[in-house]
Amino acid sequence: ENPPWPAYRGYHKFSFANATMGQRLPTILGKAIDDTIRTLNEEYDETRIVDLTKCIERMQELMKDLQTNQNLRVIKDDGEGDVAMWNKEIAKFFRGKNFMNATWLFAEAYKYRRLHECFSISQHWKDYDVFFRQKCDTFSRSSTAVFELSTRFAEPFEYAKQASDADKLKAAKLVFHELTQVCLWGNATDLSLLINMTEDDIKNLQSTGGEHLAETEKNILGNDLDKIWETKVSKLKGGRIDFVLDNAGFELYCDCVYADWLIQSGIANEIHFHGKRFAWFVSDVTRKDWSWLLNSMMYGSLFPNASDSELASLRQMAARWKKYEQEGKWVYEQHPFWCTGYAYWSLPSEAPDLFIHLAESDLVIFKGDLNARRLCYDCQTPASIPFETAIGPMSSADGAPPVVSLRTVKSDVVVGVDQERADKLDKEEPGWRISGKYAVVLYSEGTPG
Ligand code: F6P
Ligand code: MG
Repeated sequence: ENPPWPAYRGYHKFSFANATMGQRLPTILGKAIDDTIRTLNEEYDETRIVDLTKCIERMQELMKDLQTNQNLRVIKDDGEGDVAMWNKEIAKFFRGKNFMNATWLFAEAYKYRRLHECFSISQHWKDYDVFFRQKCDTFSRSSTAVFELSTRFAEPFEYAKQASDADKLKAAKLVFHELTQVCLWGNATDLSLLINMTEDDIKNLQSTGGEHLAETEKNILGNDLDKIWETKVSKLKGGRIDFVLDNAGFELYCDCVYADWLIQSGIANEIHFHGKRFAWFVSDVTRKDWSWLLNSMMYGSLFPNASDSELASLRQMAARWKKYEQEGKWVYEQHPFWCTGYAYWSLPSEAPDLFIHLAESDLVIFKGDLNARRLCYDCQTPASIPFETAIGPMSSADGAPPVVSLRTVKSDVVVGVDQERADKLDKEEPGWRISGKYAVVLYSEGTPG
Protein backbone atom coordinates (compact mmCIF):
# COMPACT_ATOMS: atom_id res chain seq x y z
CA GLU A 1 0.00 0.00 0.00
CA ASN A 2 1.30 3.45 -0.98
CA PRO A 3 0.11 6.97 -0.19
CA PRO A 4 -1.10 9.06 -3.14
CA TRP A 5 1.54 11.81 -2.73
CA PRO A 6 4.99 11.77 -4.39
CA ALA A 7 8.01 10.90 -2.22
CA TYR A 8 10.82 13.38 -1.62
CA ARG A 9 14.00 12.75 -3.60
CA GLY A 10 17.52 14.15 -3.39
CA TYR A 11 17.27 16.14 -6.60
CA HIS A 12 14.25 18.06 -5.29
CA LYS A 13 15.90 21.43 -4.78
CA PHE A 14 12.84 22.72 -2.91
CA SER A 15 13.29 20.09 -0.22
CA PHE A 16 15.75 19.44 2.62
CA ALA A 17 16.46 16.20 0.75
CA ASN A 18 18.71 18.14 -1.59
CA ALA A 19 20.97 19.71 1.05
CA THR A 20 21.02 16.43 2.98
CA MET A 21 22.05 14.20 0.11
CA GLY A 22 24.33 16.82 -1.48
CA GLN A 23 26.08 18.35 1.53
CA ARG A 24 25.10 17.04 4.94
CA LEU A 25 25.83 13.38 4.25
CA PRO A 26 29.34 13.98 2.86
CA THR A 27 30.10 16.23 5.86
CA ILE A 28 28.86 13.60 8.29
CA LEU A 29 30.87 10.92 6.52
CA GLY A 30 33.98 13.11 6.56
CA LYS A 31 33.67 13.45 10.33
CA ALA A 32 33.20 9.70 10.63
CA ILE A 33 36.43 9.15 8.73
CA ASP A 34 38.25 11.60 11.02
CA ASP A 35 36.97 9.72 14.05
CA THR A 36 38.18 6.41 12.68
CA ILE A 37 41.61 7.83 11.91
CA ARG A 38 41.80 9.01 15.50
CA THR A 39 41.06 5.48 16.65
CA LEU A 40 43.62 4.13 14.23
CA ASN A 41 46.26 6.41 15.71
CA GLU A 42 45.47 5.09 19.18
CA GLU A 43 45.78 1.43 18.15
CA TYR A 44 48.97 -0.58 18.67
CA ASP A 45 48.18 -4.12 17.44
CA GLU A 46 49.31 -4.75 13.87
CA THR A 47 46.47 -6.99 12.67
CA ARG A 48 43.90 -4.61 14.12
CA ILE A 49 45.64 -1.66 12.47
CA VAL A 50 45.73 -3.34 9.06
CA ASP A 51 42.09 -4.34 9.45
CA LEU A 52 41.00 -0.83 10.41
CA THR A 53 42.93 0.71 7.53
CA LYS A 54 40.75 -1.33 5.19
CA CYS A 55 37.63 0.01 6.91
CA ILE A 56 38.87 3.54 6.28
CA GLU A 57 39.52 2.74 2.62
CA ARG A 58 35.97 1.45 2.30
CA MET A 59 34.64 4.66 3.85
CA GLN A 60 36.64 6.64 1.32
CA GLU A 61 35.08 4.59 -1.48
CA LEU A 62 31.65 5.31 -0.06
CA MET A 63 32.53 9.00 0.00
CA LYS A 64 33.44 8.82 -3.68
CA ASP A 65 30.19 7.00 -4.52
CA LEU A 66 28.23 9.63 -2.66
CA GLN A 67 30.01 12.61 -4.16
CA THR A 68 29.86 11.28 -7.72
CA ASN A 69 26.27 10.14 -7.23
CA GLN A 70 26.72 6.47 -8.09
CA ASN A 71 23.92 3.95 -8.43
CA LEU A 72 22.91 2.10 -5.28
CA ARG A 73 24.60 -1.31 -5.31
CA VAL A 74 23.56 -4.35 -3.30
CA ILE A 75 24.73 -4.69 0.31
CA LYS A 76 27.55 -7.22 0.76
CA ASP A 77 26.73 -10.33 2.69
CA ASP A 78 28.24 -9.62 6.08
CA GLY A 79 26.20 -12.33 7.76
CA GLU A 80 23.69 -9.91 9.26
CA GLY A 81 19.98 -10.60 9.30
CA ASP A 82 18.99 -7.51 7.35
CA VAL A 83 21.02 -8.09 4.15
CA ALA A 84 18.19 -9.93 2.40
CA MET A 85 15.72 -7.19 3.26
CA TRP A 86 17.97 -4.49 1.81
CA ASN A 87 18.77 -6.37 -1.36
CA LYS A 88 15.19 -7.38 -2.00
CA GLU A 89 14.23 -3.72 -1.93
CA ILE A 90 17.16 -2.68 -4.12
CA ALA A 91 16.36 -5.36 -6.69
CA LYS A 92 12.67 -4.47 -6.71
CA PHE A 93 12.65 -0.68 -6.69
CA PHE A 94 16.14 0.80 -6.87
CA ARG A 95 17.93 -0.86 -9.77
CA GLY A 96 19.65 1.88 -11.78
CA LYS A 97 18.72 4.46 -9.14
CA ASN A 98 21.39 6.69 -7.64
CA PHE A 99 21.77 8.60 -4.37
CA MET A 100 19.99 11.66 -5.77
CA ASN A 101 17.08 10.16 -7.70
CA ALA A 102 16.20 7.32 -5.33
CA THR A 103 13.60 8.23 -2.73
CA TRP A 104 15.21 10.34 -0.02
CA LEU A 105 14.25 8.11 2.89
CA PHE A 106 15.69 5.01 1.29
CA ALA A 107 18.85 6.66 -0.06
CA GLU A 108 19.67 8.29 3.26
CA ALA A 109 19.10 5.09 5.23
CA TYR A 110 21.12 3.18 2.64
CA LYS A 111 24.09 5.45 3.26
CA TYR A 112 24.09 4.48 6.94
CA ARG A 113 23.86 0.80 6.03
CA ARG A 114 26.80 1.18 3.65
CA LEU A 115 28.74 2.91 6.41
CA HIS A 116 28.00 -0.03 8.67
CA GLU A 117 29.17 -2.41 5.95
CA CYS A 118 32.60 -0.69 5.92
CA PHE A 119 33.08 -2.23 9.37
CA SER A 120 30.80 -5.26 9.44
CA ILE A 121 32.91 -7.12 6.88
CA SER A 122 36.10 -6.51 8.89
CA GLN A 123 37.65 -9.01 11.32
CA HIS A 124 38.03 -6.94 14.45
CA TRP A 125 35.89 -3.82 14.04
CA LYS A 126 32.45 -5.21 13.28
CA ASP A 127 30.67 -3.14 15.92
CA TYR A 128 32.75 0.00 15.73
CA ASP A 129 30.58 3.10 16.13
CA VAL A 130 32.02 6.13 14.33
CA PHE A 131 29.63 8.44 16.19
CA PHE A 132 30.15 7.11 19.71
CA ARG A 133 32.61 9.83 20.79
CA GLN A 134 30.26 12.60 19.61
CA LYS A 135 27.26 11.07 21.34
CA CYS A 136 29.04 10.82 24.70
CA ASP A 137 30.46 14.27 24.36
CA THR A 138 27.11 16.04 23.91
CA PHE A 139 25.64 14.40 26.97
CA SER A 140 28.51 15.56 29.14
CA ARG A 141 28.03 19.07 27.77
CA SER A 142 24.34 19.07 28.79
CA SER A 143 24.98 19.41 32.52
CA THR A 144 22.56 22.25 33.27
CA ALA A 145 19.49 20.45 31.96
CA VAL A 146 20.68 17.06 33.20
CA PHE A 147 20.82 18.30 36.80
CA GLU A 148 17.68 20.39 36.48
CA LEU A 149 15.85 17.14 35.87
CA SER A 150 17.77 14.83 38.20
CA THR A 151 17.50 17.12 41.22
CA ARG A 152 13.73 17.33 40.67
CA PHE A 153 12.96 13.73 39.82
CA ALA A 154 15.47 11.61 41.72
CA GLU A 155 13.36 11.31 44.86
CA PRO A 156 10.56 8.78 44.40
CA PHE A 157 7.41 10.38 43.04
CA GLU A 158 4.66 10.76 45.62
CA TYR A 159 1.27 12.45 45.83
CA ALA A 160 0.56 14.80 48.75
CA LYS A 161 -0.53 12.79 51.81
CA GLN A 162 -4.11 14.08 52.06
CA ALA A 163 -4.73 14.23 48.35
CA SER A 164 -8.13 13.01 47.17
CA ASP A 165 -8.40 10.87 44.04
CA ALA A 166 -9.48 13.92 42.09
CA ASP A 167 -6.45 15.87 43.33
CA LYS A 168 -4.17 13.03 42.38
CA LEU A 169 -5.60 12.90 38.90
CA LYS A 170 -5.15 16.64 38.52
CA ALA A 171 -1.55 16.44 39.71
CA ALA A 172 -0.83 13.52 37.41
CA LYS A 173 -2.24 15.44 34.48
CA LEU A 174 0.12 18.33 35.16
CA VAL A 175 3.16 16.09 35.41
CA PHE A 176 2.07 14.29 32.26
CA HIS A 177 1.93 17.57 30.36
CA GLU A 178 5.28 18.68 31.64
CA LEU A 179 7.18 15.43 31.18
CA THR A 180 5.69 14.69 27.77
CA GLN A 181 7.05 18.05 26.73
CA VAL A 182 10.44 17.37 28.30
CA CYS A 183 10.51 14.14 26.33
CA LEU A 184 9.40 15.97 23.17
CA TRP A 185 11.90 18.83 23.32
CA GLY A 186 14.68 16.42 24.25
CA ASN A 187 14.51 15.62 20.54
CA ALA A 188 15.79 19.07 19.64
CA THR A 189 19.39 18.10 20.43
CA ASP A 190 20.17 15.95 17.44
CA LEU A 191 23.77 15.68 16.37
CA SER A 192 23.18 15.25 12.68
CA LEU A 193 22.01 18.86 12.48
CA LEU A 194 23.85 20.57 15.30
CA ILE A 195 27.41 19.69 14.60
CA ASN A 196 29.08 22.79 16.01
CA MET A 197 26.96 23.63 19.03
CA THR A 198 28.38 25.67 21.87
CA GLU A 199 27.60 24.95 25.51
CA ASP A 200 25.21 27.93 25.55
CA ASP A 201 23.38 26.73 22.44
CA ILE A 202 22.83 23.41 24.12
CA LYS A 203 21.62 25.07 27.31
CA ASN A 204 19.06 27.17 25.44
CA LEU A 205 17.73 24.17 23.59
CA GLN A 206 17.40 22.09 26.71
CA SER A 207 15.86 24.45 29.21
CA THR A 208 13.24 22.38 31.05
CA GLY A 209 11.61 24.86 33.47
CA GLY A 210 7.81 25.28 33.65
CA GLU A 211 7.66 28.80 32.20
CA HIS A 212 9.85 27.82 29.33
CA LEU A 213 7.60 24.86 28.57
CA ALA A 214 4.45 27.01 28.60
CA GLU A 215 6.18 29.28 26.11
CA THR A 216 7.30 26.43 23.86
CA GLU A 217 3.87 24.77 23.93
CA LYS A 218 2.85 27.55 21.56
CA ASN A 219 5.26 26.05 19.06
CA ILE A 220 3.49 22.70 19.06
CA LEU A 221 1.62 23.05 15.79
CA GLY A 222 -0.51 19.92 16.01
CA ASN A 223 -1.12 19.26 19.68
CA ASP A 224 -2.99 16.14 20.87
CA LEU A 225 -1.56 16.28 24.42
CA ASP A 226 -4.99 16.68 26.04
CA LYS A 227 -6.56 14.01 23.88
CA ILE A 228 -3.79 11.54 24.72
CA TRP A 229 -4.25 12.20 28.41
CA GLU A 230 -8.05 12.14 28.44
CA THR A 231 -8.69 9.20 26.18
CA LYS A 232 -5.70 7.02 26.92
CA VAL A 233 -3.05 7.68 29.53
CA SER A 234 -5.33 8.81 32.40
CA LYS A 235 -7.18 5.52 32.02
CA LEU A 236 -4.15 3.28 32.01
CA LYS A 237 -3.27 1.25 35.09
CA GLY A 238 -0.22 -0.98 34.95
CA GLY A 239 -0.15 -0.90 31.16
CA ARG A 240 2.64 -1.46 28.67
CA ILE A 241 4.18 1.54 26.90
CA ASP A 242 6.72 1.32 24.09
CA PHE A 243 9.26 3.96 23.07
CA VAL A 244 10.63 3.76 19.56
CA LEU A 245 13.76 5.65 20.51
CA ASP A 246 15.55 8.30 18.56
CA ASN A 247 18.75 9.93 19.81
CA ALA A 248 21.25 8.88 22.45
CA GLY A 249 22.57 11.02 25.28
CA PHE A 250 20.34 13.85 26.41
CA GLU A 251 17.23 12.79 24.48
CA LEU A 252 17.47 9.25 25.81
CA TYR A 253 17.96 10.65 29.30
CA CYS A 254 14.70 12.66 28.93
CA ASP A 255 12.91 9.56 27.63
CA CYS A 256 14.06 7.67 30.71
CA VAL A 257 12.96 10.42 33.12
CA TYR A 258 9.54 10.23 31.47
CA ALA A 259 9.45 6.43 31.48
CA ASP A 260 10.47 6.45 35.15
CA TRP A 261 7.46 8.59 36.02
CA LEU A 262 5.14 6.41 33.93
CA ILE A 263 6.21 3.46 36.09
CA GLN A 264 6.14 5.29 39.43
CA SER A 265 2.71 6.77 38.77
CA GLY A 266 1.32 3.27 38.16
CA ILE A 267 0.25 4.18 34.62
CA ALA A 268 2.63 1.54 33.23
CA ASN A 269 4.31 -1.47 34.76
CA GLU A 270 6.28 -2.33 31.67
CA ILE A 271 8.21 -0.14 29.26
CA HIS A 272 9.84 -1.42 26.08
CA PHE A 273 12.60 0.70 24.52
CA HIS A 274 13.38 0.06 20.86
CA GLY A 275 16.90 0.97 19.74
CA LYS A 276 19.09 0.45 16.70
CA ARG A 277 21.48 -2.41 15.97
CA PHE A 278 24.20 -0.18 14.55
CA ALA A 279 25.19 3.49 14.20
CA TRP A 280 22.23 5.18 12.55
CA PHE A 281 21.54 8.78 11.45
CA VAL A 282 24.47 9.89 13.60
CA SER A 283 22.99 10.07 17.05
CA ASP A 284 20.42 7.27 17.32
CA VAL A 285 20.52 4.98 20.36
CA THR A 286 22.34 1.65 20.16
CA ARG A 287 22.63 -0.88 22.96
CA LYS A 288 26.07 0.46 23.76
CA ASP A 289 24.66 4.01 24.16
CA TRP A 290 21.94 2.64 26.41
CA SER A 291 24.42 0.94 28.73
CA TRP A 292 26.77 3.89 28.55
CA LEU A 293 24.09 6.30 29.78
CA LEU A 294 23.03 4.23 32.78
CA ASN A 295 26.58 3.31 33.74
CA SER A 296 28.09 6.73 33.39
CA MET A 297 25.25 8.22 35.44
CA MET A 298 26.05 5.64 38.09
CA TYR A 299 29.85 5.44 38.02
CA GLY A 300 31.18 8.09 35.62
CA SER A 301 32.77 11.45 36.26
CA LEU A 302 31.38 13.33 33.31
CA PHE A 303 30.56 16.46 35.24
CA PRO A 304 33.64 17.78 37.07
CA ASN A 305 31.86 20.98 38.18
CA ALA A 306 28.78 19.32 39.66
CA SER A 307 28.02 19.41 43.38
CA ASP A 308 27.90 16.26 45.51
CA SER A 309 24.13 16.45 45.80
CA GLU A 310 23.72 16.82 42.04
CA LEU A 311 25.87 13.77 41.45
CA ALA A 312 23.99 11.87 44.14
CA SER A 313 20.67 12.65 42.42
CA LEU A 314 22.00 11.27 39.15
CA ARG A 315 23.18 8.08 40.85
CA GLN A 316 19.89 7.68 42.67
CA MET A 317 18.00 7.77 39.38
CA ALA A 318 20.45 5.46 37.65
CA ALA A 319 20.15 2.94 40.47
CA ARG A 320 16.36 2.93 40.13
CA TRP A 321 16.53 2.59 36.35
CA LYS A 322 18.96 -0.30 36.60
CA LYS A 323 16.60 -1.96 39.01
CA TYR A 324 13.73 -1.59 36.55
CA GLU A 325 15.90 -3.35 34.01
CA GLN A 326 16.72 -6.21 36.39
CA GLU A 327 13.07 -6.60 37.32
CA GLY A 328 12.04 -6.66 33.67
CA LYS A 329 9.99 -3.48 34.00
CA TRP A 330 12.26 -1.82 31.47
CA VAL A 331 13.19 -3.88 28.45
CA TYR A 332 15.68 -2.79 25.81
CA GLU A 333 15.12 -4.29 22.35
CA GLN A 334 16.64 -3.89 18.88
CA HIS A 335 14.69 -5.40 16.01
CA PRO A 336 16.55 -5.32 12.64
CA PHE A 337 13.60 -3.60 10.96
CA TRP A 338 14.40 -0.28 12.64
CA CYS A 339 17.66 -0.04 10.65
CA THR A 340 16.15 -0.41 7.19
CA GLY A 341 14.99 2.00 4.50
CA TYR A 342 11.34 1.02 4.90
CA ALA A 343 8.65 3.48 5.83
CA TYR A 344 6.41 2.23 8.63
CA TRP A 345 3.60 1.79 6.12
CA SER A 346 5.51 -1.46 5.42
CA LEU A 347 5.92 -2.46 9.04
CA PRO A 348 2.93 -4.84 9.19
CA SER A 349 3.91 -6.56 5.93
CA GLU A 350 7.74 -6.58 6.15
CA ALA A 351 8.16 -7.16 9.88
CA PRO A 352 4.97 -8.95 10.97
CA ASP A 353 6.62 -10.30 14.13
CA LEU A 354 7.50 -6.77 15.23
CA PHE A 355 4.03 -5.51 14.32
CA ILE A 356 2.35 -8.21 16.38
CA HIS A 357 4.67 -7.41 19.26
CA LEU A 358 3.82 -3.69 19.08
CA ALA A 359 0.14 -4.52 18.73
CA GLU A 360 0.26 -5.82 22.29
CA SER A 361 1.31 -2.44 23.62
CA ASP A 362 -1.09 0.07 25.16
CA LEU A 363 0.76 2.98 23.60
CA VAL A 364 3.67 3.20 21.18
CA ILE A 365 5.56 6.50 21.33
CA PHE A 366 7.64 7.28 18.24
CA LYS A 367 10.35 9.79 19.01
CA GLY A 368 11.81 12.32 16.65
CA ASP A 369 11.96 13.44 13.10
CA LEU A 370 13.13 10.38 11.25
CA ASN A 371 10.47 8.22 12.91
CA ALA A 372 7.87 10.80 11.86
CA ARG A 373 9.15 10.73 8.29
CA ARG A 374 8.91 6.95 8.28
CA LEU A 375 5.41 6.98 9.79
CA CYS A 376 4.24 9.37 7.03
CA TYR A 377 6.10 7.67 4.17
CA ASP A 378 8.31 10.76 3.77
CA CYS A 379 6.19 12.10 0.97
CA GLN A 380 4.66 15.42 0.00
CA THR A 381 1.56 15.10 2.15
CA PRO A 382 -0.43 18.32 2.59
CA ALA A 383 -0.08 19.65 6.16
CA SER A 384 -3.83 19.44 6.81
CA ILE A 385 -4.02 15.66 6.24
CA PRO A 386 -4.90 14.05 9.58
CA PHE A 387 -2.13 12.04 11.25
CA GLU A 388 -4.26 8.88 11.12
CA THR A 389 -4.58 9.11 7.34
CA ALA A 390 -0.92 10.03 6.86
CA ILE A 391 0.37 6.95 8.70
CA GLY A 392 -1.75 4.52 6.69
CA PRO A 393 -1.58 0.92 7.92
CA MET A 394 0.00 1.96 11.23
CA SER A 395 -3.41 3.35 12.16
CA SER A 396 -5.71 1.19 10.05
CA ALA A 397 -4.18 -2.31 9.96
CA ASP A 398 -5.87 -4.95 12.04
CA GLY A 399 -4.52 -4.67 15.58
CA ALA A 400 -2.70 -1.36 15.04
CA PRO A 401 -1.77 -0.08 18.51
CA PRO A 402 -2.38 3.46 19.77
CA VAL A 403 0.47 5.55 18.40
CA VAL A 404 1.97 8.89 19.41
CA SER A 405 4.51 10.90 17.44
CA LEU A 406 6.62 13.25 19.61
CA ARG A 407 8.67 15.18 17.13
CA THR A 408 10.46 18.46 16.75
CA VAL A 409 10.07 19.33 13.09
CA LYS A 410 13.40 19.05 11.25
CA SER A 411 12.41 18.07 7.73
CA ASP A 412 9.79 18.73 5.07
CA VAL A 413 6.92 16.41 5.79
CA VAL A 414 4.44 17.90 8.26
CA VAL A 415 0.93 16.56 8.83
CA GLY A 416 -1.89 17.08 11.31
CA VAL A 417 -1.43 20.85 11.21
CA ASP A 418 -3.89 23.57 10.32
CA GLN A 419 -3.35 24.32 6.61
CA GLU A 420 -3.54 28.07 7.04
CA ARG A 421 -0.91 28.04 9.75
CA ALA A 422 1.42 25.93 7.60
CA ASP A 423 0.87 28.13 4.54
CA LYS A 424 1.56 31.23 6.61
CA LEU A 425 4.79 29.74 7.96
CA ASP A 426 5.83 28.66 4.47
CA LYS A 427 5.42 32.26 3.37
CA GLU A 428 6.71 34.14 6.39
CA GLU A 429 9.26 31.87 7.96
CA PRO A 430 10.99 29.83 5.28
CA GLY A 431 13.10 27.23 7.01
CA TRP A 432 10.48 26.54 9.70
CA ARG A 433 10.27 22.92 8.58
CA ILE A 434 13.90 22.24 9.33
CA SER A 435 14.73 24.55 12.24
CA GLY A 436 13.62 22.28 15.09
CA LYS A 437 11.84 25.29 16.61
CA TYR A 438 8.40 23.79 15.99
CA ALA A 439 7.00 20.45 17.06
CA VAL A 440 4.02 18.13 16.81
CA VAL A 441 2.41 15.80 19.33
CA LEU A 442 0.09 13.64 17.25
CA TYR A 443 -2.07 10.70 18.23
CA SER A 444 -3.72 7.79 16.45
CA GLU A 445 -6.04 5.48 18.37
CA GLY A 446 -5.32 2.51 16.17
CA THR A 447 -7.62 -0.47 15.94
CA PRO A 448 -6.71 -2.46 19.03
CA GLY A 449 -8.53 -5.77 19.12
O1 F6P B 1 18.86 13.94 7.52
C1 F6P B 1 17.60 14.42 7.80
C2 F6P B 1 17.05 13.69 8.94
O2 F6P B 1 16.68 12.41 8.58
C3 F6P B 1 15.88 14.42 9.45
O3 F6P B 1 14.91 13.50 9.75
C4 F6P B 1 16.46 15.13 10.64
O4 F6P B 1 17.00 16.31 10.14
C5 F6P B 1 17.59 14.28 11.13
O5 F6P B 1 17.98 13.58 10.00
C6 F6P B 1 17.25 13.32 12.19
O6 F6P B 1 16.48 13.84 13.18
P1 F6P B 1 15.97 12.93 14.36
O7 F6P B 1 17.18 12.52 15.15
O8 F6P B 1 15.04 13.79 15.17
O9 F6P B 1 15.26 11.76 13.77
MG1 MG C 1 18.03 10.60 15.25
